[in-house]
Amino acid sequence: MSKPESDPLLLPREAWASRLGLILAMAGNAIGLGNFLRFPVQAARNGGGAFMIPYFVALILLGIPLMWVEWAIGRHGGAHHGHGSTPGMFQALAQRPWAKYLGVLGLFNPLVVLIYYTCIESWTMAYSFFSATGRYFGITSRGEMGVFLQSFQGFAESPHFPAGFGTAYAFMLLTLGLNVLILYKGIVAGIERLAKIAMPLLFLFAVALVVRVITLGTPDAAHPDWNAAAGMGYLWNPDFSKLMDATPWLAAAGQIFFTLSLGMGSIQCYASYVRKNDDLALTGLTTAATNEFAEVILGGCIAIPIAVAFFGLVETQQIAASGAYDLGFQAMPIIFQKIPLGHLFGCLWFGLLFFAGITSSVAMGQPIMAFLQEEFGFSRRKAVAILSMAVFLCIQPVVFFRPFLGEMDFWSGTIGLALFALIEVVLFGWVFGMDRAWEEITRGADIKVPRFFYHVIRFVTPAYLLFIFGFWLYQDALPTLRMSGVAAADRPLVLWARGLMLFIFLLSLLLIGHAFGRRRKTGRTA
Ligand code: PHE
Repeated sequence: MSKPESDPLLLPREAWASRLGLILAMAGNAIGLGNFLRFPVQAARNGGGAFMIPYFVALILLGIPLMWVEWAIGRHGGAHHGHGSTPGMFQALAQRPWAKYLGVLGLFNPLVVLIYYTCIESWTMAYSFFSATGRYFGITSRGEMGVFLQSFQGFAESPHFPAGFGTAYAFMLLTLGLNVLILYKGIVAGIERLAKIAMPLLFLFAVALVVRVITLGTPDAAHPDWNAAAGMGYLWNPDFSKLMDATPWLAAAGQIFFTLSLGMGSIQCYASYVRKNDDLALTGLTTAATNEFAEVILGGCIAIPIAVAFFGLVETQQIAASGAYDLGFQAMPIIFQKIPLGHLFGCLWFGLLFFAGITSSVAMGQPIMAFLQEEFGFSRRKAVAILSMAVFLCIQPVVFFRPFLGEMDFWSGTIGLALFALIEVVLFGWVFGMDRAWEEITRGADIKVPRFFYHVIRFVTPAYLLFIFGFWLYQDALPTLRMSGVAAADRPLVLWARGLMLFIFLLSLLLIGHAFGRRRKTGRTA
């Protein structure tokens, strides 16, 4: 292999314009719907204070070490070798031709998650308009609010949305268009600029909502124990009695992955635009810390406490258990009608979700952009055209058939992430070698990384991940594959969703082989 730094054929790469811009972009990547929608639901479903213990264990043993690993893989692949996507990064790490295929999940995961994430993101945009115009005002029961959501999505008929799929489809197109525009503008003028605008707004909206929640008092005099403090107590009083049950441990690990954007190829991609000797230890840790602040402090102070104040703890748990979007899209709109300035707070809540969403969805698109530009030599315009076409085509069934979203979320957004993390941590710590890996993590570091993490990355993180997989295989794999629990009418659709994902997976493998074959012919190196 030649010295890539001096490879004249290497494309000139963009780099972040400022450290603040990098931090905001990385925080924007990590802080997403996961922080404000997924986290409260996971916490409420898994016992509140019983969930937070495995959550923090997973943060220390999986989240933070993997954050450094992904930053280091990204900077190594980008600054040294000119790759912003994981196939090229992995080949550069292992210096073996097969290694590039191990990077396939770094294309598959972000693409599949991007497809369904764009859908949810478009609902948040729609609902911020609906809040401002008061479109759902007057609907006072959760059941009817559910009908409102479903008829907006086109899955139910109601007088609220006579146009069927039309409204949701229009918002989907608008959301996709915005994402495409930002990706087209590139790293500095697109992603970094978006982060500089959206992130301060996001924090502003979140703080306004938190202040509103903690100053609520006891809204229902008939239920003196229904208040925000009771919701926080549920989350923050540790409950050791459920620690022998594996489910919260799996859920907590999954949440840590999703919220920190780990196992996606997305952090690696953003880190690939960092210069060779620039710090990554402190900036990576700052990203994780900012995300955790947004998740457990801001995210933890909004949906659960406000729901407990208005519905009580028991019903809040039922809401979280009944569906992933029931808390955010059904319970919250009812609450906004009960507080003064509800239009405004509704708008802030869904606006917060939208800003959190869009700074994350562009982060899922960028690895694909980098792959098309760098490994195929396409222009940014051509890459963005291909990506938007692919997302546009694949999003159709997600818009029209309900089971697609959950199925894609499960395989790419849950199993795929953890599997990819396992692959990369073994590749980095064992194939690339832990001493070199440590050098990559600590070179240029503005903090001293505790040596403890050397051993964690080498042994504990991979063992933890193996355990998670072993347990999942043992407990859930077969029933999931056999679709037990899926309604008979939905089974063909679930199979179609799996077929689509298999197609995307195989196509990604093919493209990797093709791109790198082409590289060799033109004399470019990994
Ligand atoms: N971390 C984001 C969230 O919490 C989701 C995400 C995953 C973003 C992977 C980019 C890449 O919603």
